[in-house]
Amino acid sequence: MLPRFAGRAFLAPMAGVSDPALRLLCRRAGAGLVVTELTSVSGIVARARRGEDVRRIVGFSEEERPVSVQLFGSDLEALEEAARLVEPHFDAIDYNMGCPAPHITAQMAGGALLQEASLTRQIFSTLVSAVSKPVTLKVRAGVTDSDRGLYLEAARIAEDEGIEMVTLHPRTVSQGYSGDADWRLIRELKRSTGLPVVGNGDIRTPEDAARMIRYTGCDYVMVGRGAMGNPAIFSQINEYLETGSYRGQTAADRVSAFFEYMALAAAHGIRIAQLRTQAMRFVHGIRGAPGIRSRICAARDAAQLEAVMRGIRAA
Ligand SMILES: Cc1cc2nc3c(=O)[nH]c(=O)nc-3n(C[C@H](O)[C@H](O)[C@H](O)COP(=O)(O)O)c2cc1C
Repeated sequence: MLPRFAGRAFLAPMAGVSDPALRLLCRRAGAGLVVTELTSVSGIVARARRGEDVRRIVGFSEEERPVSVQLFGSDLEALEEAARLVEPHFDAIDYNMGCPAPHITAQMAGGALLQEASLTRQIFSTLVSAVSKPVTLKVRAGVTDSDRGLYLEAARIAEDEGIEMVTLHPRTVSQGYSGDADWRLIRELKRSTGLPVVGNGDIRTPEDAARMIRYTGCDYVMVGRGAMGNPAIFSQINEYLETGSYRGQTAADRVSAFFEYMALAAAHGIRIAQLRTQAMRFVHGIRGAPGIRSRICAARDAAQLEAVMRGIRAA
């Protein structure tokens, strides 16, 4: 059974972005569910066999709950073993069938699986029978423009095999992030499946979230790039869905959110390179950002970075 979600807007899995500190900030801001970055099933198995604790392999904290772990990989034995290893720690297991990165699709994983109906069925059945926690699916529309209906088949197989929820990012694998997410496909999915549907793609504002829900009838929305450096988007979406208006954010709010991020990052041993990259995202749109960015790049440790960010607050 799916966990109880604290809100209708979820944080998308984003490799290199949705680290445990950002996820927790988003949960605190009201994200209904957060999802880890995609994680290789073979990688989990190999590291666990070397004696590493799963909680170190996929870092997270209790406060993030409900938190889902996203897996990729199509080696059925590794999939089964990895699912059993992560199951005790997570509230759901999400399976990635959308990643367009060539190093993932080349291993017959991520979005490449959309063209492999029989392997897809084996994967879902392996996962669902390996664990008793809910298994969910995240898909893209298809691989190329000519097969952009493949998500419907994947969702059908998912429903047959006992998957409990499906997220659609309605772009094709070959499209990458170009063009617009075609929300008509989310509406089509909602009409054709009995599973709860999570709509994803191009939600940048609370108004976008409300528009997607109205237009597609999706049960939940998932926000990726719109939440980068911007965890407050979740409180804004929740407020907007409830009242029809929401509180805007000042530069000082963004900087405070980054300090909260830094404190959580320290607890997870997140390094300076990642802190700098995340800092860039938190200052996005702030007046004077280009000058601030070069100072962020030059920060050699957390103390220097904090000083740069304090400068913004004082400005
Ligand atoms: C930097 C980055 C990393 C991503 N990593 C993942 C990932 O690990 N797993 C996944 O399913 N999707 C991943 N995605 C896709 C997002 O989850 C989401 O589907 C996509 O960005 C569309 O949503 P958005 O328009 O709200 O960003 C990633 C996207 C970005 C921008």
